[in-house]
Amino acid sequence: MQPTIAHLGIAVTDLDAAAAFYRDVLGVPSRGPEEADGARILHFEFGGTDVELLTPLNADSPIAKFLAKRGPGIHHVCYRVPNLDAALAACRQHGYTLVDEHPRIGAGGHRIAFLHPKSTNGALIELTE
Ligand code: CO
Repeated sequence: MQPTIAHLGIAVTDLDAAAAFYRDVLGVPSRGPEEADGARILHFEFGGTDVELLTPLNADSPIAKFLAKRGPGIHHVCYRVPNLDAALAACRQHGYTLVDEHPRIGAGGHRIAFLHPKSTNGALIELTE
């Protein structure tokens, strides 16, 4: 299996206002909302790849910090890999810094891990399987 893009996470200040584009213009139905990592998340599916709109549940959430620092926008890209443990081992072997040393359960109940954006050209990358 080749890696694919599982989802793009977009940080927004107003979930309903942001969802309007996907609903009214693109006509894509939403899934959710669900809550994970201190965020309320709405999913929109585009042929096997989701766009996730993320809004903070509290001021301490990573999305709140991102919004305060950078404003609304693309927050992370999530790649689906065949084997998450093998991918994390390869990250370590090649010197990439991990935010999550071990896979944890993220949105949708999937095993996930984040890489540190300092080692990936400023892009926050999430891996799942
Ligand atoms: Co994600």
